Amino acid sequence: MRLHGKRALVTGGSDGIGLAIAGAFSCEGADVLIVGRDGNKLEAARDMLAREAKDGAAIETLSADLATEAGIDAVVSRVKASGQPLDILVNNAGVAFLVPFETVTEDQFQQSFALNVTAAFFLTQRLLPQVGAGASVINISSYFASKMIPKRPSSLYSLSKGALNSLTKSLAFELGPRGVRVNAIAPGTVDTAMRRKSIVNLPAEAQADLKAYVERSYPLGRIGSPSDIAGMAIHLASDEAAWTSGGIFAVDGGYTAG
Ligand SMILES: NC(=O)c1ccc[n+]([C@@H]2O[C@H](COP(=O)([O-])OP(=O)(O)OC[C@H]3O[C@@H](n4cnc5c(N)ncnc54)[C@H](OP(=O)(O)O)[C@@H]3O)[C@@H](O)[C@H]2O)c1
Repeated sequence: MRLHGKRALVTGGSDGIGLAIAGAFSCEGADVLIVGRDGNKLEAARDMLAREAKDGAAIETLSADLATEAGIDAVVSRVKASGQPLDILVNNAGVAFLVPFETVTEDQFQQSFALNVTAAFFLTQRLLPQVGAGASVINISSYFASKMIPKRPSSLYSLSKGALNSLTKSLAFELGPRGVRVNAIAPGTVDTAMRRKSIVNLPAEAQADLKAYVERSYPLGRIGSPSDIAGMAIHLASDEAAWTSGGIFAVDGGYTAG
């Protein structure tokens, strides 16, 4: 097992990409703490993960809103209270407002930065005392940091994920001398609640256009599933990637190759 004996924290681990990553980690023998806001979703996720976990891997949950300082405090306190080092931190929880530039509100701007940037920044900073040499930080970015889609206005989301990419590279540089690796995964479109929520209000014609665009734009001919992202996360979390840091890894069916 590639993550046997390691301890991982996955933010947004109760659904979508985070849930798939948490499941893949526990199947590789890691103890996993998942964080989300909705306690029912966390419980359902824990039950599912516990059924599949390997080698006695523990699954813990914590309900916290990472867009708030109190939420970050709660996560840091839980990790500290465990008295164990943290080997893997996945900053995955995110929010996407795909709205036209001229309609972006101050509130949407604050929410995006609070979760997509501030939470990753301060959670990583405040957990540093628990993170030792050999640890791996993985930020879940997006292709939207650098590649746009017709009729999918992304100024705010792209800005926040671009900031996360910059944080990834600067932290790889700054934390490398401590033996801490920092990488990002930039998924293409993945079929999750976030994606479904972002298209549900589009007119039927726009949804059909988007579907056709995706089918012709993804060289591998389909959008991703959460498990498509988990393989890269296992690799980056494991000692196989011991000399990999500062990378932004596209996992997108070849979409950004074009
Ligand atoms: N889906 C895609 O096409 C796609 C593509 C590229 C990148 N990404 C990125 O991948 C990451 C995961 O996206 P996803 O599609 O898997 O999303 P998702 O299915 O909507 O899941 C989001 C997870 O984050 C948690 N969460 C949301 N807001 C939170 C908050 N304020 N505090 C704590 N937890 C919170 C959710 O639980 P609660 O709601 O209970 O809090 C849930 O567990 C995001 O960073 C996203 O930007 C997604």
